[in-house]
Amino acid sequence: SRNHSIAILAGDGIGPEVMKQAVKVLDVACARFGFTVEREHCLVGGAAIDAVGCPLPQDTVQVCEKADAILFGSVGGPKWENLPPDEQPERGALLPIRKHFGLFANLRPGVCLPALKHASPVKNELIPNGFDVLCVRELTGGIYFGQPKGRHEENGDIVAIDTMVYKKSEIERICRIAFTAAMARDKRLVSVDKANVLQNSILWRETCIEVSKDFPEVELSHLYVDNAAMQLIKQPASFDVLVTGNLFGDILSDEMAMISGSLGMLPSASLGEQNDNGLYFGMYEPSGGSAPDIAGQGIANPIAQILSLSMLLRYSLGENEAADAIEAAVNAAIDSGLRTGDLYTGADGETKVSTDEMGDAIVTALQV
Ligand code: NAD
Ligand code: IPM
Ligand code: MN
Repeated sequence: SRNHSIAILAGDGIGPEVMKQAVKVLDVACARFGFTVEREHCLVGGAAIDAVGCPLPQDTVQVCEKADAILFGSVGGPKWENLPPDEQPERGALLPIRKHFGLFANLRPGVCLPALKHASPVKNELIPNGFDVLCVRELTGGIYFGQPKGRHEENGDIVAIDTMVYKKSEIERICRIAFTAAMARDKRLVSVDKANVLQNSILWRETCIEVSKDFPEVELSHLYVDNAAMQLIKQPASFDVLVTGNLFGDILSDEMAMISGSLGMLPSASLGEQNDNGLYFGMYEPSGGSAPDIAGQGIANPIAQILSLSMLLRYSLGENEAADAIEAAVNAAIDSGLRTGDLYTGADGETKVSTDEMGDAIVTALQV
């Protein structure tokens, strides 16, 4: 059916500001392509703490369970930073949602549009054709979730523990996603680990090599994470797909975002197992956070949120034409020279715009 339903969790900081733009885009996409999306707005994160006293109300979980997908803004901020760890927005809402829905595959497509090359801090000759790398990040395992976790006193000292755990089965399934993605792209996959130090990474590398046997056309290579961080800056154009664990993927994807011009450009899809109809239940969110430093000023870049909506339409609703059209509308707005502050360099032909103006331009481009 083309009558869909989604849960909208805008959250904190710039979350509601950029979500407003994504919803405008969704309205136009529905009208143009003839489908409907019922939306239910739910409390999450600091906004939920302030309203009802906990970061992830039961109501919110229930609405998400009934929906086809979740469109997520961002959570967290200084106001809630001193609460007990598990009551904070990130650990009390975002991570539990990912775990609850089994969203183990986080796709982060870092794309530097040719028109934004000069906004990238890497030398333009290093990205002659822009930058286009997909980071496939494992999202429900590793040091984020391993047990034991916590802190205790020991001999008058304080000990804090996080445990990095990966099961072979967890590595295998994320590697399969990455190889499958590479098959649909340039067929080059770099697996990022720290196999010179970590047991987890030795198992990661072994397993990745095993999975590669099922994808003989994909050229697989391995990099230690420190070297990967360096090579991304040194030769950004040499990468096609990256696959890595939860923490390394978190860090490298922010780096990729910046190579693309701004963190405000990087969307993400967090997916579980594929359904019989080839679609996924998923959560879609910008890779960046609530940006407290610019929240409330109407200047945040809404593109990561809008491209996250496009990924939602593609992976969870199967509305591929609308997804393509939204990407094209974003490109058109960028090509016309419009720039939110994070992308603005003062070059000829650039116009600095607000969050709302960027949203309006994308809406207009989508309407034609
Ligand atoms: P951040 O990603 O919020 O901000 C980092 C920098 O990027 C800031 O200078 C910010 O202004 C800029 N930035 C991010 N998104 C932007 C956008 N759309 N347009 C323009 N500039 C943008 O990271 P932080 O400051 O380390 O974290 C702030 C809060 O967000 C913390 O509470 C953190 O835990 C949380 N966080 C949440 C998510 C999420 O909900 N998925 C992700 C990352 C961080
Ligand atoms: C992200 C964020 C989260 C993460 C935080 C807020 C828990 O940085 O989505 O990249 O580390 O996964
Ligand atoms: Mn992050």
